Amino acid sequence: MTTAQPLDVTPTPLALLLLGRASDPSSERGVDCPGDLPSPSDPGLVERARAARERLGSRLFVLGHHYQRDEVIQFADVTGDSFKLARDAAARPEAEYIVFCGVHFMAESADILTSDAQAVILPDLAAGCSMADMATAEQVAEAWDVLTDAGVARSTVPVTYMNSSADIKAFTGRHGGTVCTSSNAERALTWAFAQAGENGKVLFLPDQHLGRNTAVRDLGLSPDDCVVYNPHKPGGGLTADQLRRARMILWRGHCSVHGRFSLDSVEEVRARIPGVNVLVHPECRHEVVAAADHVGSTEHIIRLLDRAPAGSSWAVGTELNLVRRLAARYAPEGKEIVFLDRTVCFCSTMNRIDLPHLVWALESLADGKVVNRIQVDQDTEHFARLALDRMLALP
Ligand code: 13P
Ligand code: SF4
Repeated sequence: MTTAQPLDVTPTPLALLLLGRASDPSSERGVDCPGDLPSPSDPGLVERARAARERLGSRLFVLGHHYQRDEVIQFADVTGDSFKLARDAAARPEAEYIVFCGVHFMAESADILTSDAQAVILPDLAAGCSMADMATAEQVAEAWDVLTDAGVARSTVPVTYMNSSADIKAFTGRHGGTVCTSSNAERALTWAFAQAGENGKVLFLPDQHLGRNTAVRDLGLSPDDCVVYNPHKPGGGLTADQLRRARMILWRGHCSVHGRFSLDSVEEVRARIPGVNVLVHPECRHEVVAAADHVGSTEHIIRLLDRAPAGSSWAVGTELNLVRRLAARYAPEGKEIVFLDRTVCFCSTMNRIDLPHLVWALESLADGKVVNRIQVDQDTEHFARLALDRMLALP
């Protein structure tokens, strides 16, 4: 495989749900809102959210992912990336309700890591993740059969990105693998290769870009050591020989937000802002990551900008809600922060959690009605927890 991967344009069979109004129970994104949402133009929404929070007191803990809207993040008790939020949720055993302002796979992970007495709530069940939807349990089970037939399954350790459904995490747990996030992908891959033994392989799910970037940039593998398994083609579109020679078997998934940044965006911003530092998330395509000055997880991006000297300029390739917030936060310190691309690039599913959904969820809880609870079944939870615990124990 070459390093310059074209943007993956295979349509997912699941079209995005419009405004959370449709229903898609088979997808990672869940179903539409079962309640009566307050009107978005209600001028009292902020006050209503505050009042409901006060009524709930310490029984409530609100988590907010960095990509959430400003109108929502202001109500978060803690903010963070998916890894930090999962740990924060696990560290609050006294909270009866954990309202997760993020997307479905994050709420699932929070449910897995918290006790059965705690209810994890996702204010809009249609807040899913198109990347997580690109690897279904059936497709991954079929891929494992393909690897078994090629004689490589026994020497392959699966590693799944946090951005995957609980089913995929459970598959990983069952087959001796681990979960990783963009902050610990290098450690997770190093661990997995050690488990796989000499000439062992990693099956990396579902983000081909994070997998390739970590293998090539951080572990020093060659791009030719990576093959891409396409679940829409028989045998993944690979021969048994290609599978045997590969070290990294990358699932053909990507983030529709980070996948949009291109080499052109990098060249254009460098021409426009002399001396600009290009800083991107490792979910971006390999050629973008290779052309950037700095690469890192959401938390890493925030830390780097925090420490940046006054007068420096930064073009940041990650979700727009976060970039805009960082630009506003650091402008008074004389740091120029711009979005890497000229076109607007919000994560549409993250944006589904808006103030009306949050108010609806908080008021329902304050009235004693548990809504939109995310509950992973016991068997899936057991094996997904194995994979998550392996991640939490990574050296
Ligand atoms: P992190 O939260 O791990 O930075 O992942 C980015 C992302 O795409 C979340 O959906
Ligand atoms: Fe999924 Fe990308 Fe949105 Fe994150 S930013 S939730 S990976 S689509």
